Formats: sequence, C-alpha cells, structure tokens
Amino acid sequence: MRHLISPLDLSVTELADILNLAEDIIRDPAKYSECCHGKKLATLFYEPSTRTRLSFEAAMLNLGGSVLGFSSADSSSASKGESVADTIRVISGYADICAMRHPKEGAPLVASMYSEIPVINAGDGGHNHPTQTLTDLLTIKNLKGRLDHLTIGLCGDLKFGRTVHSLINAMVRYPEISFVLISPDELKLPTYIREGVLDKNQIPYKEVRSLEEVLPELDLLYMTRVQKERFFNEEDYIRLKDTYILDAKKMALAKEDMLVLHPLPRVNEIATEVDSDPRAAYFKQAKYGVYARMALIMTLLGVHVD
Ligand code: NCD
Repeated sequence: MRHLISPLDLSVTELADILNLAEDIIRDPAKYSECCHGKKLATLFYEPSTRTRLSFEAAMLNLGGSVLGFSSADSSSASKGESVADTIRVISGYADICAMRHPKEGAPLVASMYSEIPVINAGDGGHNHPTQTLTDLLTIKNLKGRLDHLTIGLCGDLKFGRTVHSLINAMVRYPEISFVLISPDELKLPTYIREGVLDKNQIPYKEVRSLEEVLPELDLLYMTRVQKERFFNEEDYIRLKDTYILDAKKMALAKEDMLVLHPLPRVNEIATEVDSDPRAAYFKQAKYGVYARMALIMTLLGVHVD
C-alpha cells in the first residue's frame, strides 16, 4: 500500500507517470468518469481549506467515486480528544483512501502508520504539501512546457510556507534549476531546507530581500501568503504581511513569458490588477489541482483505464 506524505515519496519516474496520466485526463475526461465507481475518499481536514478539500472531492466525484469527511477539527472527535491514530483506524473501515490536513507537522505520517488505506498528506503544519506540488508541477509542465532549466523565484513567507518547502524538494531533482529566495529576514527559508536540500544537492540559489531587483531574471515567480495562523504574535504578522505586493508596475520588470503562480488563497500579495495579465497563472493552477489529484487517487488505488 502506498501513501503520499512527502513529495519525495514519488520518484521522478512515478511523478512523470502521474503528470502524464493527469494530461490524458485533461484530454479525455469522459474516459475516466467511472473508473473509481464504488470507491470512497475520506477528507479529514483539521485545518481550514477551500481548494485542497474541494478539489479532492471534485477529483473523486469526476472519477465516479464518492466522498465523505469533515472540514474542521471542531466538527470531528478530535474536539473530544481522539488521537489521529485512533481516527484513522476507524476511517480505514469506512473509506478506500483518505486525504488529511492537520496543523501539526507529521500528523499524516503518524496516520499512515496506523492506516489500512492510502493516506495523502493534504498539508501538515508548516512542513509539506505534496499535492499542491503535484498541482504546481502539472501547471509548470503545461504552461512552461518543461520542468528543467528554470530560474524560480519564491517570494513571501518561505519560513512557514509548506507549499514552498514541498516545491523545492520536488524541483531540485530536475536539471538546471536555480532558486531566488525572496523574503524578509524573519521569513527566510528554514535551515533544514536550505542546507538539507539546496546545499546538499548543490542547487544554485540566492537569498534577497528585494523583489524588484530580481524580477527580470525569473522564469517563474511563486508568490505566497504570509501564514498568519503559524505566527506566535499578531504584531509580527501585521508588520510583515504586506512586505511584498506584486502589481502591474512590478510586472513590467518581468520577462514576457514569466509565469506567476500562487497556491492561493491570496490576501494582498498580488494586486487584483495583475489577474488580467496573461502571465498570471494562479487560477489556472487551481484548476490543474483537480486533474493532478484525479491522477494521484487513481495511482494510489491502483486503478487503470485502457
Ligand atoms: C496553501 C496551504 O494550505 O498551504 N493553500 C492551498 O492548499 N492551496 C497555501 C496557503 O494557505 O497560503
């Protein structure tokens, strides 16, 4: 039985297979519309979500399966003190696969140890978000035409942003990738990723404070929201939340084919005037999330369509 807890749980080849499957689903969704008939997906969300939970549900429904679950810790037995280990043992008898989001780093990993069904990490604290990464890779591959030879700007909350951590882990495995890490000092990439992933794999990167200065170099700009819910005090959040605001004036400095990605939700970090710029890809990205998750669910359930 396979789980997806970290983006590294999938080899580059397996990842390529999932992306190819997602692309086939995009070309011919009708072919896949009944392939998970009779299968159930449980969504166990202990933290707020719009896109991730609903795109998982849409994915399973598009495959002809059904969904059950909860969308907040308050509405689950976690509020009575039940452990993740006990919850997943029970859910294993109700569903065939589950997606779990949890504020505690490592919770989906613990769940996978007690589970009898595949567990997908749908975001664990400030740690990882592997299905957002699948979404990001599918978006980049389709809109950029490649996953290699890219200068990737990561901007905003690189400390708590789990989407950034997972994306870095996944992208360092492709040739000629370099990163520009754009953040205030307080929100720099954690050492365990800077040293443990970038340095270890000898990936070129630089850390800068100014977005304007580096914009002309980038093939891809990945904007992020300052992760309010992970701050220890509100004052720091208020001071840092609007450090970067991408607007039309800044976009004028970027390459003509630079892609702007954002896992969403956006707060102030991208002005709405950027939405009509053809380089703004974040709403397309959200749509790719459904196809990426369809391909993942099929893969983990071992479902094939000829
Ligand atoms: C992200 C997350 O939950 O980490 N959202 C998402 O899943 N698309 C990013 C965020 O909340 O800022």
